[in-house]
Amino acid sequence: MEQKAYIIGEETVKKYLTVDDIIKCVEDTWRWYGEGKVIMPNKITTTMDPLGVQGWFNSMPAYIGPMDVAGIKVVGGYAGNKALGLPYIKANVLVTNSRTGELRALVSGDYINDYRTGAQPAVMAKYLAAKTDIVTIIGTGLMGYTTLYCMTKTVNMKEVRLCDISEEAMDNFIARFPDAPFKFVKCKSNEEGCRGADIVITVTNANADLVEEPWLKKGSLVMTMGSFRETTFDVVKKADKIAVDQIGQSLHRGNLKELAECGEITADSIDILFPEVLAGKAQGRTNPDDRIYSQIVGTGMLDVACAGILLEKIKAANADVFRFDMMK
Ligand SMILES: NC(=O)c1ccc[n+]([C@@H]2O[C@H](COP(=O)([O-])OP(=O)(O)OC[C@H]3O[C@@H](n4cnc5c(N)ncnc54)[C@H](O)[C@@H]3O)[C@@H](O)[C@H]2O)c1
Repeated sequence: MEQKAYIIGEETVKKYLTVDDIIKCVEDTWRWYGEGKVIMPNKITTTMDPLGVQGWFNSMPAYIGPMDVAGIKVVGGYAGNKALGLPYIKANVLVTNSRTGELRALVSGDYINDYRTGAQPAVMAKYLAAKTDIVTIIGTGLMGYTTLYCMTKTVNMKEVRLCDISEEAMDNFIARFPDAPFKFVKCKSNEEGCRGADIVITVTNANADLVEEPWLKKGSLVMTMGSFRETTFDVVKKADKIAVDQIGQSLHRGNLKELAECGEITADSIDILFPEVLAGKAQGRTNPDDRIYSQIVGTGMLDVACAGILLEKIKAANADVFRFDMMK
Protein backbone atom coordinates (compact mmCIF):
# COMPACT_ATOMS: atom_id res chain seq x y z
CA MET A 1 0.00 0.00 0.00
CA GLU A 2 1.29 3.49 -0.82
CA GLN A 3 2.16 5.43 2.32
CA LYS A 4 2.32 8.84 0.73
CA ALA A 5 0.29 10.55 -1.96
CA TYR A 6 2.01 11.76 -5.14
CA ILE A 7 1.48 15.43 -5.97
CA ILE A 8 2.13 15.65 -9.71
CA GLY A 9 2.41 18.97 -11.50
CA GLU A 10 1.91 19.80 -15.15
CA GLU A 11 5.58 19.53 -16.26
CA THR A 12 5.95 16.08 -14.69
CA VAL A 13 2.75 14.88 -16.35
CA LYS A 14 4.08 16.01 -19.75
CA LYS A 15 7.45 14.36 -19.08
CA TYR A 16 6.04 10.90 -18.36
CA LEU A 17 2.81 10.72 -20.39
CA THR A 18 3.05 10.90 -24.18
CA VAL A 19 0.24 11.80 -26.57
CA ASP A 20 0.50 8.25 -27.95
CA ASP A 21 -0.04 6.92 -24.41
CA ILE A 22 -3.15 9.10 -24.13
CA ILE A 23 -4.62 8.05 -27.50
CA LYS A 24 -4.13 4.37 -26.61
CA CYS A 25 -5.57 4.95 -23.15
CA VAL A 26 -8.70 6.59 -24.60
CA GLU A 27 -9.30 3.68 -26.97
CA ASP A 28 -8.64 1.04 -24.27
CA THR A 29 -10.80 2.77 -21.66
CA TRP A 30 -13.71 3.27 -24.06
CA ARG A 31 -13.46 -0.43 -24.96
CA TRP A 32 -13.43 -1.46 -21.28
CA TYR A 33 -16.48 0.76 -20.70
CA GLY A 34 -18.21 -0.99 -23.61
CA GLU A 35 -17.29 -4.33 -22.03
CA GLY A 36 -18.91 -3.25 -18.75
CA LYS A 37 -15.62 -3.07 -16.85
CA VAL A 38 -15.83 0.60 -15.84
CA ILE A 39 -18.05 2.11 -13.14
CA MET A 40 -18.95 5.68 -14.03
CA PRO A 41 -21.89 7.71 -12.70
CA ASN A 42 -23.00 10.68 -14.77
CA LYS A 43 -21.04 13.88 -14.23
CA ILE A 44 -22.53 16.63 -12.09
CA THR A 45 -22.26 20.27 -13.17
CA THR A 46 -21.97 23.09 -10.65
CA THR A 47 -22.59 26.54 -12.07
CA MET A 48 -20.76 29.61 -10.84
CA ASP A 49 -23.47 31.97 -12.20
CA PRO A 50 -24.72 32.95 -8.71
CA LEU A 51 -21.26 34.42 -8.00
CA GLY A 52 -21.52 36.57 -11.11
CA VAL A 53 -18.77 34.38 -12.62
CA GLN A 54 -19.41 33.00 -16.11
CA GLY A 55 -18.14 29.55 -15.31
CA TRP A 56 -18.98 26.01 -14.27
CA PHE A 57 -17.20 22.92 -13.05
CA ASN A 58 -17.94 19.23 -13.43
CA SER A 59 -17.35 16.44 -10.92
CA MET A 60 -16.54 13.27 -12.91
CA PRO A 61 -15.84 10.11 -10.88
CA ALA A 62 -14.88 6.73 -12.34
CA TYR A 63 -13.43 3.33 -11.47
CA ILE A 64 -11.45 1.56 -14.22
CA GLY A 65 -11.66 -2.18 -13.48
CA PRO A 66 -8.82 -3.55 -15.68
CA MET A 67 -6.41 -1.01 -14.17
CA ASP A 68 -7.90 -1.08 -10.65
CA VAL A 69 -7.81 2.72 -10.63
CA ALA A 70 -10.43 4.87 -8.91
CA GLY A 71 -10.62 8.63 -9.00
CA ILE A 72 -12.40 11.80 -9.90
CA LYS A 73 -11.73 14.50 -12.43
CA VAL A 74 -12.76 18.03 -11.51
CA VAL A 75 -12.84 20.26 -14.55
CA GLY A 76 -14.29 23.68 -15.21
CA GLY A 77 -14.65 26.25 -17.96
CA TYR A 78 -14.31 29.92 -16.99
CA ALA A 79 -15.02 32.64 -19.56
CA GLY A 80 -12.83 35.19 -17.71
CA ASN A 81 -9.71 32.99 -17.74
CA LYS A 82 -8.40 34.25 -21.09
CA ALA A 83 -8.06 37.79 -19.69
CA LEU A 84 -6.00 36.34 -16.82
CA GLY A 85 -3.69 34.47 -19.21
CA LEU A 86 -5.24 31.15 -18.22
CA PRO A 87 -6.84 28.55 -20.52
CA TYR A 88 -10.65 28.46 -20.68
CA ILE A 89 -10.62 24.91 -19.26
CA LYS A 90 -8.87 23.99 -15.96
CA ALA A 91 -8.71 20.40 -14.72
CA ASN A 92 -7.36 18.30 -11.85
CA VAL A 93 -7.54 14.55 -11.22
CA LEU A 94 -7.58 12.89 -7.82
CA VAL A 95 -6.68 9.19 -7.69
CA THR A 96 -7.72 7.19 -4.62
CA ASN A 97 -7.08 3.66 -3.39
CA SER A 98 -10.04 1.70 -4.75
CA ARG A 99 -10.30 -0.45 -1.56
CA THR A 100 -9.67 2.11 1.18
CA GLY A 101 -10.34 5.57 -0.29
CA GLU A 102 -6.87 6.80 0.68
CA LEU A 103 -5.40 9.44 -1.60
CA ARG A 104 -2.88 7.98 -4.06
CA ALA A 105 -2.25 11.05 -6.17
CA LEU A 106 -3.33 14.56 -6.97
CA VAL A 107 -2.53 15.16 -10.62
CA SER A 108 -2.66 18.43 -12.55
CA GLY A 109 -5.23 17.58 -15.21
CA ASP A 110 -4.78 20.21 -17.93
CA TYR A 111 -2.47 18.34 -20.31
CA ILE A 112 -4.38 15.10 -19.73
CA ASN A 113 -7.71 16.83 -20.36
CA ASP A 114 -6.47 18.67 -23.45
CA TYR A 115 -5.04 15.61 -25.19
CA ARG A 116 -7.65 13.09 -24.08
CA THR A 117 -10.21 15.53 -25.55
CA GLY A 118 -8.36 15.58 -28.87
CA ALA A 119 -7.82 11.82 -28.76
CA GLN A 120 -11.58 11.18 -28.71
CA PRO A 121 -12.43 12.38 -32.25
CA ALA A 122 -9.11 10.94 -33.43
CA VAL A 123 -10.14 7.46 -32.28
CA MET A 124 -13.78 7.84 -33.32
CA ALA A 125 -12.87 9.05 -36.81
CA LYS A 126 -10.77 5.91 -37.31
CA TYR A 127 -13.87 3.73 -36.79
CA LEU A 128 -16.86 5.84 -37.90
CA ALA A 129 -15.65 7.96 -40.83
CA ALA A 130 -16.35 6.74 -44.37
CA LYS A 131 -13.56 8.99 -45.68
CA THR A 132 -11.04 11.31 -44.00
CA ASP A 133 -9.72 13.37 -46.95
CA ILE A 134 -11.45 16.65 -46.07
CA VAL A 135 -11.76 17.51 -42.39
CA THR A 136 -13.40 20.71 -41.13
CA ILE A 137 -12.72 22.05 -37.66
CA ILE A 138 -15.06 24.75 -36.36
CA GLY A 139 -13.38 26.32 -33.33
CA THR A 140 -9.60 26.66 -33.58
CA GLY A 141 -8.86 27.08 -29.87
CA LEU A 142 -6.94 24.72 -27.63
CA MET A 143 -9.23 21.69 -27.99
CA GLY A 144 -9.37 22.25 -31.76
CA TYR A 145 -5.57 22.12 -31.78
CA THR A 146 -5.32 18.89 -29.74
CA THR A 147 -8.04 17.38 -31.92
CA LEU A 148 -6.09 17.92 -35.12
CA TYR A 149 -2.79 16.99 -33.48
CA CYS A 150 -4.21 13.62 -32.36
CA MET A 151 -5.92 13.08 -35.72
CA THR A 152 -2.56 13.38 -37.48
CA LYS A 153 -1.66 10.19 -35.60
CA THR A 154 -4.77 8.17 -36.47
CA VAL A 155 -6.05 9.15 -39.94
CA ASN A 156 -4.75 10.47 -43.26
CA MET A 157 -6.09 13.88 -44.29
CA LYS A 158 -5.58 15.86 -47.51
CA GLU A 159 -7.33 19.12 -46.66
CA VAL A 160 -8.10 20.65 -43.28
CA ARG A 161 -10.63 23.48 -43.32
CA LEU A 162 -10.77 25.92 -40.44
CA CYS A 163 -13.69 28.07 -39.26
CA ASP A 164 -13.56 30.49 -36.35
CA ILE A 165 -14.95 33.91 -35.52
CA SER A 166 -11.35 34.90 -34.75
CA GLU A 167 -8.96 35.26 -37.68
CA GLU A 168 -6.10 35.40 -35.18
CA ALA A 169 -7.13 32.06 -33.67
CA MET A 170 -7.02 30.44 -37.14
CA ASP A 171 -3.60 31.95 -37.92
CA ASN A 172 -2.16 30.81 -34.58
CA PHE A 173 -3.62 27.36 -35.18
CA ILE A 174 -1.98 26.99 -38.59
CA ALA A 175 1.35 28.20 -37.19
CA ARG A 176 1.30 25.25 -34.76
CA PHE A 177 1.49 22.78 -37.69
CA PRO A 178 4.56 23.98 -39.65
CA ASP A 179 5.13 20.58 -41.29
CA ALA A 180 1.52 19.69 -42.00
CA PRO A 181 1.27 17.03 -44.71
CA PHE A 182 -2.14 18.42 -45.71
CA LYS A 183 -3.45 21.70 -47.10
CA PHE A 184 -5.01 24.25 -44.71
CA VAL A 185 -7.98 26.34 -45.88
CA LYS A 186 -9.25 29.28 -43.81
CA CYS A 187 -12.98 29.42 -44.57
CA LYS A 188 -15.01 32.60 -44.92
CA SER A 189 -18.15 30.89 -43.62
CA ASN A 190 -19.14 27.69 -41.86
CA GLU A 191 -21.14 26.73 -44.95
CA GLU A 192 -17.99 26.91 -47.09
CA GLY A 193 -16.24 24.75 -44.50
CA CYS A 194 -18.95 22.11 -44.29
CA ARG A 195 -19.99 21.61 -47.94
CA GLY A 196 -18.21 18.54 -49.31
CA ALA A 197 -16.38 17.76 -46.04
CA ASP A 198 -15.92 14.13 -45.00
CA ILE A 199 -15.68 15.04 -41.32
CA VAL A 200 -17.03 18.13 -39.55
CA ILE A 201 -15.94 18.75 -35.97
CA THR A 202 -17.33 21.53 -33.77
CA VAL A 203 -15.30 22.40 -30.70
CA THR A 204 -16.22 25.95 -29.73
CA ASN A 205 -17.54 27.65 -26.62
CA ALA A 206 -20.42 29.08 -28.66
CA ASN A 207 -24.11 28.38 -28.06
CA ALA A 208 -25.34 28.70 -31.64
CA ASP A 209 -26.36 26.91 -34.83
CA LEU A 210 -22.89 26.64 -36.36
CA VAL A 211 -23.72 23.76 -38.73
CA GLU A 212 -26.84 23.33 -40.88
CA GLU A 213 -28.12 20.06 -42.24
CA PRO A 214 -28.31 20.96 -45.99
CA TRP A 215 -24.55 21.71 -45.95
CA LEU A 216 -23.63 18.12 -45.06
CA LYS A 217 -22.85 15.53 -47.70
CA LYS A 218 -23.88 11.88 -47.76
CA GLY A 219 -21.49 9.70 -45.82
CA SER A 220 -20.17 12.54 -43.67
CA LEU A 221 -19.35 12.23 -39.99
CA VAL A 222 -20.22 15.19 -37.74
CA MET A 223 -18.71 15.21 -34.26
CA THR A 224 -19.76 17.92 -31.78
CA MET A 225 -17.60 18.44 -28.70
CA GLY A 226 -18.47 21.90 -27.33
CA SER A 227 -20.31 22.19 -24.04
CA PHE A 228 -23.35 23.92 -25.56
CA ARG A 229 -25.48 23.88 -28.73
CA GLU A 230 -23.43 23.82 -31.95
CA THR A 231 -25.79 22.61 -34.74
CA THR A 232 -29.37 23.00 -35.85
CA PHE A 233 -31.72 20.31 -34.55
CA ASP A 234 -31.97 18.85 -38.08
CA VAL A 235 -28.27 17.92 -38.12
CA VAL A 236 -29.15 15.45 -35.36
CA LYS A 237 -32.73 14.55 -36.27
CA LYS A 238 -32.04 13.89 -39.97
CA ALA A 239 -28.83 11.93 -39.38
CA ASP A 240 -28.97 8.28 -40.48
CA LYS A 241 -27.32 7.30 -37.21
CA ILE A 242 -26.76 9.06 -33.90
CA ALA A 243 -23.69 8.07 -31.90
CA VAL A 244 -22.51 9.10 -28.44
CA ASP A 245 -19.64 8.26 -26.09
CA GLN A 246 -21.97 7.87 -23.08
CA ILE A 247 -25.75 8.03 -23.02
CA GLY A 248 -26.78 9.64 -19.69
CA GLN A 249 -24.43 12.58 -19.90
CA SER A 250 -25.12 13.19 -23.56
CA LEU A 251 -28.73 13.97 -22.82
CA HIS A 252 -28.04 16.72 -20.33
CA ARG A 253 -25.07 18.50 -21.86
CA GLY A 254 -23.68 19.75 -25.15
CA ASN A 255 -25.48 19.83 -28.47
CA LEU A 256 -28.09 17.21 -27.51
CA LYS A 257 -29.22 18.87 -24.27
CA GLU A 258 -31.98 21.08 -25.73
CA LEU A 259 -33.25 18.30 -28.00
CA ALA A 260 -33.48 15.98 -25.00
CA GLU A 261 -35.16 18.63 -22.85
CA CYS A 262 -37.94 19.16 -25.38
CA GLY A 263 -38.37 15.40 -25.82
CA GLU A 264 -37.17 15.39 -29.45
CA ILE A 265 -34.60 12.73 -28.61
CA THR A 266 -34.37 10.17 -25.82
CA ALA A 267 -31.96 7.38 -24.91
CA ASP A 268 -33.84 5.22 -27.46
CA SER A 269 -32.83 7.62 -30.27
CA ILE A 270 -29.15 6.71 -29.82
CA ASP A 271 -28.11 4.16 -32.47
CA ILE A 272 -24.44 3.76 -31.58
CA LEU A 273 -22.91 3.74 -28.12
CA PHE A 274 -19.39 4.06 -29.46
CA PRO A 275 -17.57 2.16 -26.67
CA GLU A 276 -19.74 -0.87 -27.55
CA VAL A 277 -18.39 -0.75 -31.11
CA LEU A 278 -14.84 -1.04 -29.73
CA ALA A 279 -16.00 -3.88 -27.46
CA GLY A 280 -17.40 -5.73 -30.50
CA LYS A 281 -20.94 -5.61 -29.05
CA ALA A 282 -22.42 -3.18 -31.58
CA GLN A 283 -21.92 -2.14 -35.17
CA GLY A 284 -20.57 1.28 -36.07
CA ARG A 285 -20.82 2.46 -39.66
CA THR A 286 -22.58 -0.10 -41.86
CA ASN A 287 -23.17 2.01 -44.98
CA PRO A 288 -20.63 4.40 -46.58
CA ASP A 289 -23.50 6.75 -47.50
CA ASP A 290 -24.88 7.08 -43.97
CA ARG A 291 -24.57 10.50 -42.43
CA ILE A 292 -23.49 9.86 -38.86
CA TYR A 293 -23.93 12.49 -36.16
CA SER A 294 -21.92 11.97 -32.99
CA GLN A 295 -21.79 13.87 -29.75
CA ILE A 296 -18.60 13.41 -27.76
CA VAL A 297 -19.56 14.82 -24.41
CA GLY A 298 -16.35 13.74 -22.68
CA THR A 299 -16.18 11.34 -19.75
CA GLY A 300 -14.14 11.33 -16.53
CA MET A 301 -13.06 7.70 -16.96
CA LEU A 302 -10.58 8.80 -19.64
CA ASP A 303 -8.77 11.27 -17.38
CA VAL A 304 -8.79 8.91 -14.40
CA ALA A 305 -7.36 6.13 -16.61
CA CYS A 306 -4.67 8.47 -18.00
CA ALA A 307 -3.73 9.42 -14.42
CA GLY A 308 -3.47 5.67 -13.66
CA ILE A 309 -1.09 5.13 -16.60
CA LEU A 310 0.94 8.13 -15.47
CA LEU A 311 1.30 6.66 -11.96
CA GLU A 312 2.47 3.34 -13.43
CA LYS A 313 5.08 5.11 -15.57
CA ILE A 314 6.30 7.28 -12.70
CA LYS A 315 6.70 4.22 -10.49
CA ALA A 316 8.44 2.22 -13.23
CA ALA A 317 10.92 5.07 -13.74
CA ASN A 318 11.38 5.42 -9.96
CA ALA A 319 10.92 9.13 -10.66
CA ASP A 320 11.69 11.73 -8.06
CA VAL A 321 8.19 13.15 -7.59
CA PHE A 322 6.95 15.12 -4.59
CA ARG A 323 5.02 12.96 -2.12
CA PHE A 324 2.95 14.02 0.84
CA ASP A 325 1.91 12.12 3.94
CA MET A 326 -1.80 12.89 4.24
CA MET A 327 -1.75 11.89 7.93
CA LYS A 328 0.58 14.75 8.88
N1 LIG B 1 -16.21 17.14 -25.18
C1 LIG B 1 -15.12 17.17 -24.44
O1 LIG B 1 -14.55 16.14 -24.07
C2 LIG B 1 -14.56 18.50 -24.06
C3 LIG B 1 -13.41 18.58 -23.24
C4 LIG B 1 -12.88 19.83 -22.94
C5 LIG B 1 -13.50 20.98 -23.42
N2 LIG B 1 -14.64 20.87 -24.16
C6 LIG B 1 -15.34 22.04 -24.71
O2 LIG B 1 -14.71 22.39 -25.92
C7 LIG B 1 -15.01 23.77 -26.21
C8 LIG B 1 -13.72 24.50 -26.64
O3 LIG B 1 -12.82 24.57 -25.54
P1 LIG B 1 -11.37 25.23 -25.74
O4 LIG B 1 -10.62 24.96 -24.48
O5 LIG B 1 -10.79 24.84 -27.03
O6 LIG B 1 -11.75 26.78 -25.80
P2 LIG B 1 -10.91 27.96 -26.52
O7 LIG B 1 -11.42 29.22 -25.90
O8 LIG B 1 -9.46 27.67 -26.49
O9 LIG B 1 -11.38 27.85 -28.06
C9 LIG B 1 -12.69 28.07 -28.47
C10 LIG B 1 -12.64 28.61 -29.90
O10 LIG B 1 -13.99 28.69 -30.39
C11 LIG B 1 -14.09 29.87 -31.15
N3 LIG B 1 -15.48 30.27 -31.27
C12 LIG B 1 -16.28 30.81 -30.33
N4 LIG B 1 -17.49 31.06 -30.85
C13 LIG B 1 -17.45 30.66 -32.14
C14 LIG B 1 -18.39 30.68 -33.22
N5 LIG B 1 -19.62 31.18 -33.06
N6 LIG B 1 -18.01 30.19 -34.42
C15 LIG B 1 -16.74 29.71 -34.61
N7 LIG B 1 -15.80 29.70 -33.63
C16 LIG B 1 -16.16 30.17 -32.42
C17 LIG B 1 -13.23 30.89 -30.37
O11 LIG B 1 -12.89 32.01 -31.17
C18 LIG B 1 -12.04 30.01 -29.99
O12 LIG B 1 -11.03 30.06 -30.98
C19 LIG B 1 -15.67 24.32 -24.96
O13 LIG B 1 -17.08 24.32 -25.13
C20 LIG B 1 -15.28 23.32 -23.89
O14 LIG B 1 -16.16 23.33 -22.80
C21 LIG B 1 -15.16 19.65 -24.49
